[in-house]
Amino acid sequence: MIKQAIIPLAGLGTRLLPLTSIIPKELLPINGKPGLEYVLDECIDAGIKEIILIISKKKMMIKNYFQKDNFYKKIIKKKKDKRILKEFKKIKKYKKIIKFVYQNSPSGTGDAILKAKKLIKEKYFLILLPDDLIIKNNCSKNMISIHKKYNASVMASMNVKKKDVTRWGIYKVKKKINDKNFLIEGVIEKPSINKAPSNKAVIGRYILPKKIFTKLKKQKKGKSGEIHITDAIQSLILESNKFVGHNFAGKYLDCGTMKGYIRSSMKISKK
Ligand code: G1P
Repeated sequence: MIKQAIIPLAGLGTRLLPLTSIIPKELLPINGKPGLEYVLDECIDAGIKEIILIISKKKMMIKNYFQKDNFYKKIIKKKKDKRILKEFKKIKKYKKIIKFVYQNSPSGTGDAILKAKKLIKEKYFLILLPDDLIIKNNCSKNMISIHKKYNASVMASMNVKKKDVTRWGIYKVKKKINDKNFLIEGVIEKPSINKAPSNKAVIGRYILPKKIFTKLKKQKKGKSGEIHITDAIQSLILESNKFVGHNFAGKYLDCGTMKGYIRSSMKISKK
């Protein structure tokens, strides 16, 4: 069973400056609620029982958001506002299942995940990258079913235009299982157009085995001097670990750039 999820949140969010000079990007509201809550709800709905948030000292605001119990209680007592009470209950529910871990120097997603090593108990766990919102269909839930069915690690993916492959991790298909699922032969982080093995881009949802930590520990810095999960995954694939790419059914929204963030708010409000 997949019971634990890791969400790395220590990134600086420079693409969303100047907003992110004050507010962590994951707390920026999308149609009235922080982007992070969409991802938390996806986890809870998929049956996740513990969520590990990786933050940095600069992003303590995220921890505070979930821990201001007394502040809320006082307001609710005074105002008796149903909406605030409902929000408070929701935040309390999140608080019960969240743990915080710190990554104080942003050295890449791989390095962030490694910080959660000691807390991971089960053989497999889920990772969600909060810049990638997937609405209208619970991608994590579907990936958990695929993991069970094929007894494999799983990465969410979508087909992208050839000119856009340089923005993503791209995988090579070994075998098409069906229209949505593909056995993976290898994966490469942000390849040049010429080196891209396909147009299948990895999107920020992964079901990975605990043994990825051994690879991450040894992992050398890759593209842009960062430690990437993609490179550690590639090492596992080379050792014949089974990975399935799952072209998800929901709608993808990119919340990591200003243009994407604005568009996401509009799309979600129209939902
Ligand atoms: C990360 C991964 C990349 C993946 C992408 C999905 O890149 O390194 O392989 O395709 O997330 O959003 P980042 O967005 O951190 O540059």
